[in-house]
Amino acid sequence: MDRRLCVHLCCLLSACALAAVSGAPIQSAPVTGKFWHISDLHLDATYHVSEDHSQVCLSSKGHEALNPGEFGDYMCDSPYELILSAFDFMKRSGQLTDFIIWTGDSPPHFLVEKLSTDIVVQILSNMTSTIRKYFPELMVYPALGNHDYWPQDQFPNSTNKIYQAAADLWEPWLKTEAIKTLRAGGFYSQLVQPGLRVVSLNTNLYYSPNKVTTNMTDPAGQFRWLMETLESSRQNAEKVYIIAHVPIGYLPQCNSTTAMREVHNERLVQIFRKYGDVIAGQFYGHTHRDSVMVLLDDQGKPVSSVFVTPAVTPIKDASEPYSNNPGVRLYKYDPRSFGMLDVVQYFLNLTEANEERKADWKLEYVMTEAFDINDVEPQSLQKLARSFAGCRSEAFQKYFNHFMVSYDDTIVCQGLCKTRQVCAVQFLDSATYSQCVEGRLRSQGLDHNFF
Ligand SMILES: *[C@@H]1O[C@H](CO)[C@@H](O)[C@H](O)[C@H]1NC(C)=O
Ligand SMILES: *[C@@H]1O[C@H](CO)[C@@H](O)[C@H](O)[C@H]1NC(C)=O
Ligand SMILES: *[C@@H]1O[C@H](CO)[C@@H](O)[C@H](O)[C@H]1NC(C)=O
Ligand SMILES: *[C@@H]1O[C@H](CO)[C@@H](O)[C@H](O)[C@H]1NC(C)=O
Ligand SMILES: *[C@@H]1O[C@H](CO)[C@@H](O)[C@H](O)[C@H]1NC(C)=O
Ligand SMILES: [Zn+2]
Repeated sequence: MDRRLCVHLCCLLSACALAAVSGAPIQSAPVTGKFWHISDLHLDATYHVSEDHSQVCLSSKGHEALNPGEFGDYMCDSPYELILSAFDFMKRSGQLTDFIIWTGDSPPHFLVEKLSTDIVVQILSNMTSTIRKYFPELMVYPALGNHDYWPQDQFPNSTNKIYQAAADLWEPWLKTEAIKTLRAGGFYSQLVQPGLRVVSLNTNLYYSPNKVTTNMTDPAGQFRWLMETLESSRQNAEKVYIIAHVPIGYLPQCNSTTAMREVHNERLVQIFRKYGDVIAGQFYGHTHRDSVMVLLDDQGKPVSSVFVTPAVTPIKDASEPYSNNPGVRLYKYDPRSFGMLDVVQYFLNLTEANEERKADWKLEYVMTEAFDINDVEPQSLQKLARSFAGCRSEAFQKYFNHFMVSYDDTIVCQGLCKTRQVCAVQFLDSATYSQCVEGRLRSQGLDHNFF
């Protein structure tokens, strides 16, 4: 049975109940919409447990695996078993979700000569059919990631083999109009249900390592298309969920670096501010870590909630001090307003799974409960962000532990580390972000030991 239909039925039923017992207090529990978010699967088919730790996976690029087991290693991309365990958990969780969003990056982190356009298409095809096998009745809204191309990151501004392949592979989920723009530019929009539209952006066109689009003001005409799409949604009183791989805003673990090219980030931020009343949520991947942002308008009023989901792959760069455990998440939303109610984050303790030879996916946290907020609407996220600022904020330490998907709760983030994190949550454009960083550094300068 089509679950989306179920939601409509439930809405109808509760409307009837309302009418029938008018005057009496209504006891019926509010119906909650739910959807899954998966990202950065990064399948490494070469992964195998071996005595020789330099031979475990190609994705470690010659570095030794740390503690390889059946479900993976923090130096490697995902073995197929890990990805299957995630889908199996989602399927068995019993959660009645309305759809899945999938924000890209299926191929592994291999050297460029170990991949090709054909291999990338083969992996996209493999992940698509694996998802369809596990969730034959669920709608899936995918977005392309910077690794879903060969050579990686180099997405062109017009049609090519990858956009064509994605359009063919995702035909079971997408309608004619969506397939058409996907083929042409790697992006699309589609109505999820009356009143709600998903807009899947190809933000890889704005990613700085993309040499093909470097000096273009509007690669593939996506900005113009996006504004037209948002304008038409506003006219039709639709709400929009933005999904994409590379997020807007600043990278929380880097020095003053936007995830996209700065000029394209500024442009996108302006568009999202202008349509803050239309956009009911933004969902990204790419960083492999768990973070939130709240987009403020020019007056500093919170207008949009931005969620960055952690990866399924546990891989870390050899130079990074920590990684992330594999994660998948569920969002709860209000099925009338499409406002965001909650984030339910699940994770696999990779060390434990390998020790016990069993992938026991568990709840990591529920955002409203962990941070004592009412919902995850822009105002609540701003309140949360403000609670991080203090020098001994327990909320911030918890947030940072979630950032790594509970990889290691003894790692403390303070000083410059904390400044980057805290400023990245609320300030998504260059002017306000620099002001935040400089303000915090100045006050830290006054008393080094205090922060
Ligand atoms: C996907 O790749 C895995 C790992 O190489 C392989 O075992 C599996 O058979 C493939 N599945 C499909 C549907 O191609
Ligand atoms: C982009 O523009 C700059 C400045 O005009 C120029 O130096 C550079 O070569 C251009 N890059 C590409 C890839 O076209
Ligand atoms: C894509 O780039 C080519 C070469 O620079 C240009 O001629 C074309 O107009 C661009 N197309 C779009 C849709 O931006
Ligand atoms: C980041 O900026 C700080 C302060 O300007 C500097 O000390 C540090 O070396 C920088 N780190 C990186 C990785 O660039
Ligand atoms: C993960 O498992 C390891 C090994 O069993 C354990 O030491 C660690 O505390 C666990 N971490 C979490 C967050 O449960
Ligand atoms: Zn990735």
